[in-house]
Amino acid sequence: MRLSNKTIEEVKNRIDIVDVIGDFVQLKKAGRNFRALSPFTNEKTPSFFVVPHKEIYKDFSSGKAGDAIHFVMEYDGLSYPDAIVYLAKKYGIEVEQEEQTDEQMEAQNERESLFIISNFAKDHFVHNLWETEEGRSIGLSYFHERGFKDDTIKKFELGYSLDEWHNLEETAGKKGYNTGLLEKTGLVVVKDDKHYDRFRGRVMFPIHNATGKAIAFGARILTKDKKQPKYLNSPETDIYHKSDVLYGLFQAKRAIRQEDNCYLVEGYTDVISMHQAGIENVVSSSGTALTENQIRLIRRHTENITVLFDGDEAGIRASMRGIDMILKEGMKVRCVVFPEGEDPDSYARKLGAMNYRAYLEEERQDFITFKARLLLKGTQNDPIKKADTIVSIVQSISIVPDPVARSVYLKETSNILDIEESVLIAELNKILIQKRHEDRRDAQHKEKQAPDTGELVEQVKESVREQKVDPVFVQEQECIRLLVNYGFNEVEEEYKLYDHYLEELEGIEFQTPVFQEILELFRQKIESGNIPDPDDFFKDSPEHIKKTLIHLVSEQHEVSENWQRYHIYIPKEEELITNAVYANLLRLKFRKIRTLLEKNRDSIKEAQEEEKLTELMRINMELKKAEMEYAKPLGIVISS
Ligand code: UTP
Ligand code: MN
Repeated sequence: MRLSNKTIEEVKNRIDIVDVIGDFVQLKKAGRNFRALSPFTNEKTPSFFVVPHKEIYKDFSSGKAGDAIHFVMEYDGLSYPDAIVYLAKKYGIEVEQEEQTDEQMEAQNERESLFIISNFAKDHFVHNLWETEEGRSIGLSYFHERGFKDDTIKKFELGYSLDEWHNLEETAGKKGYNTGLLEKTGLVVVKDDKHYDRFRGRVMFPIHNATGKAIAFGARILTKDKKQPKYLNSPETDIYHKSDVLYGLFQAKRAIRQEDNCYLVEGYTDVISMHQAGIENVVSSSGTALTENQIRLIRRHTENITVLFDGDEAGIRASMRGIDMILKEGMKVRCVVFPEGEDPDSYARKLGAMNYRAYLEEERQDFITFKARLLLKGTQNDPIKKADTIVSIVQSISIVPDPVARSVYLKETSNILDIEESVLIAELNKILIQKRHEDRRDAQHKEKQAPDTGELVEQVKESVREQKVDPVFVQEQECIRLLVNYGFNEVEEEYKLYDHYLEELEGIEFQTPVFQEILELFRQKIESGNIPDPDDFFKDSPEHIKKTLIHLVSEQHEVSENWQRYHIYIPKEEELITNAVYANLLRLKFRKIRTLLEKNRDSIKEAQEEEKLTELMRINMELKKAEMEYAKPLGIVISS
């Protein structure tokens, strides 16, 4: 969603910070300011301040500070646009979206439809569970047998898919939802000319996005059929990217912030059972390794993760690497292991709410300690293995960004491993120094790479130095950048972005040789019909081309990350690709025409014969006309 500037401005003008924060926190007047208990920590004495005349809040206990919009984002874990929408609603301001191109509108509408259909399906599955004979006798009784209570079942909007081939499709059809869209949500499978419901005779676990809309489903089998997977899950769709979603986060958000901790479990049922045991700050990675994006989702609410392991040691060892990743994000990781054969779900049922809570509190150990103990187990009296263990643990410690935390871990480890702290410190320093070397080498590599990309980087540097970046160069570079980064995006069915580019660039020659080379390479490969995998596309091309491409591929990231850090919302580049391509092609052609015009003018100056001059003047006119044509949509005013 892209909000119009008008809406954002209006919201900003209307906000009264005391009023906004007062909705969430009990503010007490303190002189010119207001004071309250921090909503972000569990403090006993109030250290949260609102300073109305500066329109800011400052929370001394968590260190958070910002304006009213920032507060809403922090408190509710909302994105910038969502916070604006929330505030607009509060003040009765109409939310206006930026004007979009037809293509964007269509994509937007399609996404909307996918949300609507997914939520329709969710409601349908819920209806089946409670209101049909089959649903009640098979689905509902299964949940009851597992010990799920009715209000839990309702809280998670669990449902049931009837054991029929077309029940969902037909019901949706009556509502006017077409099969094409059902297919795009993954709810209907189309194979050859046949289509059928993906989920049949299973209990349904809807997966919610951050605002509580159902965007996908996990579906558990109820029979003992060994040939079928226990869970069937929705495929990736336009509204569901598995690696960006955590099961249960929507239901857990508030509790995670309140408890300042997030429990991480493997399964849907673990999440649900823990809720029932009164522990609501829990999410599931749905049986796969945690991704960086998922860690960041959690981090918006807390710095603390507690990973719950079932008692299978091989499984625990396999998860270690993933945990290093959490450390790297600067988060604090703790672990709890359940007894052999138990998982968070079964054990919650076994112990009951009270004992379960106590178990988690008592058994919880920080990750480094946990890892040290675990690895130590296998090393009894084996000095070589023990040395390996030490290195491995110190390596984990070296990932922790905070030096104070690192030294605490070193002490702890020295106790557990029964080894002099100084030895560990020496090991750690070795690793840190090695890392620094590597970083520096990488940096130098990049430095060295620069002149190696030859012309390209030299030209840029030169231009920057002279403060006159050649616009043709810039557009050519942008063109190649978009082509290699997004060329394989599908614009329409069977029509890729590169098709568009190659068509549009027909007959245009780039002035920058390396870009011309890349373009030709691209064209050759596509026209050969033997189109390689996008990732391997330039695998066998000459070194200087690869280096140029690395340069173009890497640069963009840093920019957007910085913006995000400062809470400035920029739409994902991919959302803007269509616009970017359109503008790039216009600008590129515009610049080409300008260059031609200049050349032509030079020729006019030099022309001797009448006839030649007439011809050049005619060309000049045509070029001027073309220049106008491209200038208009670009908003460029041409003087002469
Ligand atoms: P589990 O096998 O632990 O499932 O897999 P569970 O949630 O505890 O289910 P119950 O207790 O046996 O009913 C953990 C998670 O891995 C994913 C699911 O997300 C599941 O919750 N999974 C598992 C699948 O996606 N497909 C499968 O076939 C199995
Ligand atoms: Mn289970």
